[in-house]
Amino acid sequence: MAIIKTTDKDWLDFQSAVKELKEYFLSLSARKGRALTYNVLTYGCQLNESDSEKLSGMLSAMGLIPSSGGELDDADVILFNTCSIRENADRHLFGNLGVFKTLKKKDPDVIIAVCGCMMKVPENVAKIKKSYPYVDLVFDPQQLHRLPLLLRDSIRSKKQLVNIAADDYIAEDSFFPIDRKRKFRALVPIMYGCNNFCTYCIVPYARGRERSRDFGEIVRELEDLASKGYKEVMLLGQNVNSYKGEDGKTFADILRAASDFEEFSRVRFMSSHPKDISDEVIDIMATRPNVEKHLHLAMQSGSDRILKAMNRPYTISRFLEIADTFRSRVEGGSLTTDIIVGFPGETEEDFQQTLRAVEKAKFDAAFTFQYSARPGTKAAAFEDQIPADIVTDRFGRLTEYTNRYAEESNSRLAGKTMEVLIEGISKAGDMTFSGRTITNHLVNFTIPEELGIDPGPDNLEGRLCEVRIDRARPYSVDGVLVSLRGA
Ligand code: SAH
Ligand code: SF4
Ligand code: F3S
Repeated sequence: MAIIKTTDKDWLDFQSAVKELKEYFLSLSARKGRALTYNVLTYGCQLNESDSEKLSGMLSAMGLIPSSGGELDDADVILFNTCSIRENADRHLFGNLGVFKTLKKKDPDVIIAVCGCMMKVPENVAKIKKSYPYVDLVFDPQQLHRLPLLLRDSIRSKKQLVNIAADDYIAEDSFFPIDRKRKFRALVPIMYGCNNFCTYCIVPYARGRERSRDFGEIVRELEDLASKGYKEVMLLGQNVNSYKGEDGKTFADILRAASDFEEFSRVRFMSSHPKDISDEVIDIMATRPNVEKHLHLAMQSGSDRILKAMNRPYTISRFLEIADTFRSRVEGGSLTTDIIVGFPGETEEDFQQTLRAVEKAKFDAAFTFQYSARPGTKAAAFEDQIPADIVTDRFGRLTEYTNRYAEESNSRLAGKTMEVLIEGISKAGDMTFSGRTITNHLVNFTIPEELGIDPGPDNLEGRLCEVRIDRARPYSVDGVLVSLRGA
């Protein structure tokens, strides 16, 4: 599969399609006597979130405004950005697509499009073609930069347009208008795709081969973000540590370049693969104050036999060695992970080894998954698939373990006063605020009235403050604001 960079011609085509669509939507809006809206529904990981910021940016450039925000809000352009990993991903998509059938009937000008990782699985595309003829446009994550052209063509032809790329494109962020969702946090993909082919995983098929963005382009984007007042950057990639830039530039170079900007209070990254994380990167985490003291390192299993069957090229003792290195060098750092239970062939003994590894690594938090066979992956064809009741049982036992260590990790913060980057009003909706420590611990806190602080989100989002932590919960800690840093 060829890896192709976008060209000047792509850019000119892009601009002319955006212009044409802007005119089209302007006349449609005049006809309807109201502003036109869009709704991008995002499932999946931060890479999909980042893609959605670009999709939204392109739709805004066409003159559309975001709909009022509900998940299944009516809008004039509805775009599903799907994921193939999330549990019940297909039920989400196909269930929700049905909801829009009546809307489309009522108003044939409504545009319904589906993109994202699920569209790289041919069965899903076939299902849309067969059962959802009112979907206007289907495209995949490699085609993001073609949205305006595809949208224009689908409007012109009034037929369902399905466009799944055979090539792995790399479109630099500068190609896109981007509507960043959070005003303080910028998602910055540094590479796309994955070459690892873990036997359970669909991502290499959905996202294509690894492509690293241009180092200079990334630095220019960081410069721009710093000048615009972003406080947090999140460097993204399926395996950020295998970044390969021109002139031998590595992930460590990017991390250093990002942390050189004093404007950023937090430099974060996701995800690291145990085979790629280097002592150099761990040292940067240890020594640079604005680099997060948090490493997300997927373990997947504690059994060497299962790791091998998963095509994860490390042993559990090597994994635990990296965990030790991180713990000893990055003081107070937090280590989080992904674990799958019920991989084909997993015995009770393999599972016990996973529990023992969790005991040793004492993860500060863990995302736990029940193995789910994904059509097209190697493991889906393995013979010894584990019955659902055993998977559920092991899952329950594992989460009991991981929750215990997560709560212990939170308990260690109790009584301390910690620096928190404020993210906003907490979801509980009771005027408690939420934010994160540099170790990625989630903190909910209140602001004593006598401090006379304006609690408006515009005043607080993205600001650093000191919070006294007084209580630990399983997934977060509670505290009280002590002081707010600078303006
Ligand atoms: N590239 C990242 C992982 C991205 S996918 C990494 O390797 O660290 C996020 C997580 O989803 C994986 O780490 C894995 O634990 C889980 N996952 C992926 N495919 C799965 C499947 N078929 N069944 C269950 N969990 C899966
Ligand atoms: Fe999937 Fe493995 Fe690639 Fe992560 S490293 S995206 S788990 S194939
Ligand atoms: Fe899902 Fe695709 Fe991300 S499968 S987890 S949205 S890369």
